[in-house]
Amino acid sequence: MAATCSRSRLQFLLHLAQDNLDFRLPEIKALLALRGKPFLPGVNFSEQSPFWCLDGLCEEDVRTITARSVCAKSAIELWGHGKTHSELKTSLLNYPSENMLPYMQKDSTYKISVDTFNKTLLFPERIKRIDALEYLPFEGTVSLKTPEHIFVLLEDYGTDPNNIPEHPNYIYFGRWLADGQRELIRSHSVKNRHFIGNTSMDAGLSFIMANHAKIKKDDLVFDPFVGTGSLLVACSQFGAYVCGTDIDYNIIHGKGRSSRKNRTWRGPDENIRANLRQYGTEKMYVDVMVSDAAKPVWKKAALFDAIITDPPYGIRESTRRTGSHKDITKPPDGIYVESHVPVSQAYHLSDIFTDLLHFSAHHLVMGGRLVYWLPIYRPDYCEEMVPLHPCLRLISNSEQTLSSHTSRRLITMEKIKEPEELDSLAHLTDPRFGPYQGHDTFREKYFSGLNKRGAKEEDKSDINGE
Ligand SMILES: C[S@@+](CC[C@H](N)C(=O)[O-])C[C@H]1O[C@@H](n2cnc3c(N)ncnc32)[C@H](O)[C@@H]1O
Repeated sequence: MAATCSRSRLQFLLHLAQDNLDFRLPEIKALLALRGKPFLPGVNFSEQSPFWCLDGLCEEDVRTITARSVCAKSAIELWGHGKTHSELKTSLLNYPSENMLPYMQKDSTYKISVDTFNKTLLFPERIKRIDALEYLPFEGTVSLKTPEHIFVLLEDYGTDPNNIPEHPNYIYFGRWLADGQRELIRSHSVKNRHFIGNTSMDAGLSFIMANHAKIKKDDLVFDPFVGTGSLLVACSQFGAYVCGTDIDYNIIHGKGRSSRKNRTWRGPDENIRANLRQYGTEKMYVDVMVSDAAKPVWKKAALFDAIITDPPYGIRESTRRTGSHKDITKPPDGIYVESHVPVSQAYHLSDIFTDLLHFSAHHLVMGGRLVYWLPIYRPDYCEEMVPLHPCLRLISNSEQTLSSHTSRRLITMEKIKEPEELDSLAHLTDPRFGPYQGHDTFREKYFSGLNKRGAKEEDKSDINGE
């Protein structure tokens, strides 16, 4: 493999899926960071484009991306590109032959694929494109079924389906390296999962979260609002040991009413462990337990390589924490309340996020990442609303729009220093390190927004992972 890293001046092209646009750059950057590599885009880089040229990488770096990315469809080693076929030809003829020839030997087999973006080419047009590449020194034999090498001609017709140009805006040619992990979205779809709930996180987004968190083999990952464990499923797929907590006894023990259509009660196999078993990662299951995120039970230590979670927003499930009568009515001085009767009380969104950041600062290893969703009432949103912590650096903040007035933002933070006594008090002096007040009105605004539009109850399902 070292040989593949020694070939000079290589440039690679990523072909990205045109969904979840905001999550793509942080995903690719995080995967490159796992290899200790920076993101160096080629000239004319556009974040919105489905094609990204990357510099400064070797083949192994790119294979690391495709082995994990659910945003990338495929990657090629780029041999030439241009605005027209004639520019492409000039570019290809200038490409160092020592980089090309190992894949064009007499005793090798190959095929050429023609891919287009935003336009469909008929078969004869594809053949014409392939024939036009006769200036390349292919020596091998064509094999359509089992080629050793696949070459790709990619034509980009822009991103506007209502305005498709006659000729491509840009053309690329190169050696196909690998496909990304889009297949995981289908194979892990919550539709076919043993155990699901009303707020089970969509498979694609779960894998994106795991990638933003830079999950690696043998990491220990924690989800404090674990629900049905969708995020644990994704992290275990990437080789991490996983654990979680939830305040809901029924969820943790796989009891109670099933969320499946036509099923009343959860069956024996409807639990988080069985979800991991379904995907062959049960050995990565550490455990889950009933616990209130507002009152963490963990010993004081940096325990987790990543904390990845989807906190409750109070839309499809209530935001509750445990409490006691003691919390509500203070007993008169000197009277000890002996029988502690836990009851639940409101868990304000601002407290949820303050607690989550505080917990992460204390329990992440240095360099470990916190990845979580922040619900947003869009008309009120500004960047200053994202909660901060002196020990956590904000890495990325990507929006998933849910409606004209609501969205949720995927926040990724990295631990940069150990908390000191003063850091716990930071919110008293710096409002950015304190509770995000905007969240306490989020729920009312969310519902009043729906009511203004005359929305029905079902519309409320557009948040919390559905
Ligand atoms: C949005 S759901 C998480 C869904 C989960 N990602 C999944 O895929 O199923 C939020 C979860 O937080 C739990 N929860 C609410 N308040 C909590 C608290 N105070 N402590 C711990 N968990 C809590 C709820 O029971 C719910 O399962």
